[in-house]
Amino acid sequence: MDLKIVILGPPGSGKGTQTERLCAELGFTKISTGDLLREAVRAGTPLGIKAKGFMDAGKLTPNDLVMELIREKLKNIKGGVILDGFPRNLEQAEMLDKITKVDMAIDLVVNEDKLVKRLTMRRICKDCNSVFHLEFNPPKAAGKCDKCGGELYQRSDDTEKTVRERLRVYKESTLPLTEYYAKKGILKRIEGEGDISEIYRRIVKAINAK
Ligand code: AP5
Ligand code: MG
Repeated sequence: MDLKIVILGPPGSGKGTQTERLCAELGFTKISTGDLLREAVRAGTPLGIKAKGFMDAGKLTPNDLVMELIREKLKNIKGGVILDGFPRNLEQAEMLDKITKVDMAIDLVVNEDKLVKRLTMRRICKDCNSVFHLEFNPPKAAGKCDKCGGELYQRSDDTEKTVRERLRVYKESTLPLTEYYAKKGILKRIEGEGDISEIYRRIVKAINAK
């Protein structure tokens, strides 16, 4: 599939979880600005050093830094792409439109009261970025990734205080993008609560209808 798909939705709505499966089963390539930024922070690159403070405070990283990552990635990709966590504001969406044509925007809709628990009990693989949850999607062996055996860790922005700030920033900057893509006629709202596989099936159905 050659579609370019943007996944919207608040922190904890399941963007990473669903993107992982769409890429594994349908052959999409993932571009996750969150993962790319965390890798840059870990590697201590100049971009990572600049991004860290914003991320730990739950703020958006400045557009010029994020656009640098996106341009580089999109240049080298052929075939279908899932953009997880990008764009995050109107300016990024307009810049993306200048680089490529977005075919579909999926909005994962989840009630706010569910999100804090999803995030504060999340664990991520250090090596392959696979996403787990201590209660809702636990790894088979404690502390180890099911897929690659890598060590699981807790993101530094998954504290309750930072999660609340990320939710505030989401409502202020990212939520308006649903209107932006709805006006273009390419927004698909997907119920993001319930069984992870059931949500995946809803997304695949929407993609197949495209
Ligand atoms: P980013 O990494 O994109 O974080 P986010 O948008 O806050 O979203 P999350 O990754 O927290 O949640 P998710 O929707 O992926 O949910 P997940 O699948 O993990 O961004 C982090 C930071 O980087 C930003 O704050 C910003 O500083 C910076 N940044 C990134 N992109 C940027 C951009 N474009 N511009 C500027 N700055 C940018 O699931 C969450 C948990 O729930 C998991 O534990 C999972 O197992 C569980 N779960 C998933 N589905 C279900 C289900 N159906 N039922 C129960 N539990 C579930
Ligand atoms: Mg994510």
